[in-house]
Amino acid sequence: MHQKSSEILRLFRSESGFVSGEAISRELGVSRTAVWKHISTLRRAGYRIEALPSRGYRLLSAPDILVAQEITAVLDGSRIGKYLECLQQTASTNADAMRLAEAGAVEGTVVIADAQTDGKGRRGRVWSSPAGVNLYCSIVLRPQILPHEAPQLTFLSAVAVAQAIELNSSCTPTIKWPNDILIDGKKVAGLLNEMSAETDGINCVVLGIGVNLNMTVDQFPADLRSPATSLLIESRVRVVRSRFAASLLNALDRLYNDFLASGFGPVREEWQRRCNATGRQMVMSEGGVDRVSGLFAGIDADGSLLLRTEEGVLERIISGDVRVI
Ligand code: BTN
Repeated sequence: MHQKSSEILRLFRSESGFVSGEAISRELGVSRTAVWKHISTLRRAGYRIEALPSRGYRLLSAPDILVAQEITAVLDGSRIGKYLECLQQTASTNADAMRLAEAGAVEGTVVIADAQTDGKGRRGRVWSSPAGVNLYCSIVLRPQILPHEAPQLTFLSAVAVAQAIELNSSCTPTIKWPNDILIDGKKVAGLLNEMSAETDGINCVVLGIGVNLNMTVDQFPADLRSPATSLLIESRVRVVRSRFAASLLNALDRLYNDFLASGFGPVREEWQRRCNATGRQMVMSEGGVDRVSGLFAGIDADGSLLLRTEEGVLERIISGDVRVI
């Protein structure tokens, strides 16, 4: 977006009513004709702007597009979103963020895309990423922690997604170990965190977050392994994507700062509070065979799942399919 157009949007947001053409031309240092041209460009981009000869211009509504300036304007954190790039389309925001990180990008760099052509899910799966409806976002972090502690950041991002959902919809999200965010048992968001590390330290971690916001039933692939949903399907209300993106980045910033100051404890508590297995019996299976069952007993500092068996033994589950019974 043209710098002057985004300045006009900022002016609209700082005033509750009309802004006169004269005030805009003075603030921007351009002619009244130039103001009119920028207003026309904004209208073509989907902004509804009322114009009254005696009073000036007023923003009625903004289109649901992901624009970096719109998102950064509402960020209130100190680290996440210091540098933010919004792309129309890309292969995978995780691949972009990792490339930027390896080229020296600062901690808190964010890549967001309207659509992905090669969205990556866990275990080599595809993450369906149609245009105009969802959020696909990757964040570069450079924490001073050991590589085996990196899973803690996945739990941190799961809590941030859950908090953003709670703030932006009427839905109540739960978290399924290790890192699926569910609404009413159906997956609404997924996390794919990737790391570049040496044995003694981390170069960078890329938090990859996909949230199904306004996707409709017909936009989901027919061959999904497990049930999936979107906030629109669950609540029947559209989510403004840039507002959701800003809430998510603000939540991440708060949680990450707490994590750096106080360690994993507060994140673990927030995660366990939202876990779909709290107080329930669980079974872990491998290759379709049930291996261990027990009462959910929380998560460990390395991200493993703790189950208390009937015999009272504490089992640590590192991987495998788990289900609540
Ligand atoms: C999962 O399988 O649950 C993880 C899905 C992660 C998808 C997100 S979308 C943004 C980022 N870019 C990618 O290619 N993948 C992650």
